[in-house]
Amino acid sequence: MYQNSFPIGVIDSGIGGLTVVRQIQRILPGEDIIFFGDSANCPYGNRSADEIYELSLRMLRYMESRGVKCVAIACNTISSLVERLRPQCPFPLISIIESGADYIAREKLPSVGVIATEFTVSAGVYDTRIHALAPDCEVVSRGSPELAGLIDRGDLNQAVIDEEITAQVDVILSRAPVRDLLLACTHFPIVEENFRRCFPELRLIDPAEQQAIAVKNMLVYRTLTNPQNRGSLTVETSGDPDVYAAIARMLSLYGPKDCKAVSLT
Ligand code: DGL
Repeated sequence: MYQNSFPIGVIDSGIGGLTVVRQIQRILPGEDIIFFGDSANCPYGNRSADEIYELSLRMLRYMESRGVKCVAIACNTISSLVERLRPQCPFPLISIIESGADYIAREKLPSVGVIATEFTVSAGVYDTRIHALAPDCEVVSRGSPELAGLIDRGDLNQAVIDEEITAQVDVILSRAPVRDLLLACTHFPIVEENFRRCFPELRLIDPAEQQAIAVKNMLVYRTLTNPQNRGSLTVETSGDPDVYAAIARMLSLYGPKDCKAVSLT
C-alpha cells in the first residue's frame, strides 16, 4: 500500500526533467521528489525504441527500489513508450505527452508546431493523440537530432543552440504558418529565452505544467497527496552532478544543496 509520505519519482534521460520538477514543486509543494537524470546515456532521442525501453526500465526499477508512489516521466522520448512501460510498473506512470496533447486539443488551436527529438516525432504519439481529440488541428512536427544533447552538456552559451533552433523551427514554419510552438522535449524550456529571441512572434507552450496538474489530479483521486508544507528534493544522475546543481539553481528549484552521482547497473 502506498502512503502519502512516499516520494514522487521523476525521470528523464538528462537535465531536462528538472523543468518538470519546477512545475511539480509549484503545484504540489508538499511532495518529496526523487529525480534521476540519465546523462551518461543522453540523448535518448537518437536511439532505437528497444534501447530507450531498456534504459527507461532500468530507471523505473531504480525508482521502485526507492519506494516511490508514482513516477512522472519527465521526458517526451520515454513517454512515447509509456504503453509498453506501464505493465512493468506497480505504480502509476504519468506521461508528459498525454498531458501535453490533451492540453493542445482543449485549446482548439487550428494548428500547432511540435519541436521534439527525432524519436518522439517518428513515434507520432503527439499527432495520434491530438488528432483523436481534435481532428481538425494541423500538427506540424520536427525533430532535432542535436538540441537535447547540446543542452545536456550544460554549456548554454553556445551559438550553435540558436542556429539549431532557427534551422528546425524554420522547417516547421515553411510547412504551415503556426503561431503556437509546443516545446515537446523537456530540455527545451531550459533554453526558452533562445527560442524567444529567435522567434519572438511564436507562443511557446511547455507541457510540464499540465503534467504537474495531472500528477496532482492522480494523487488527489487516490488520496495520496503529502500534507506537509515543504517537500524535499533529491537529485541524482549518471552524469555530472555539477551540471545538475547549476541547472537546479538556474530554475530556482527548492533545494537541493548538492546533487549526487549514481550509476545504475
Ligand atoms: N528530455 C527528453 C525529452 O523530453 C529528450 C532528450 C533526449 O534525447 O535524451 O524528449
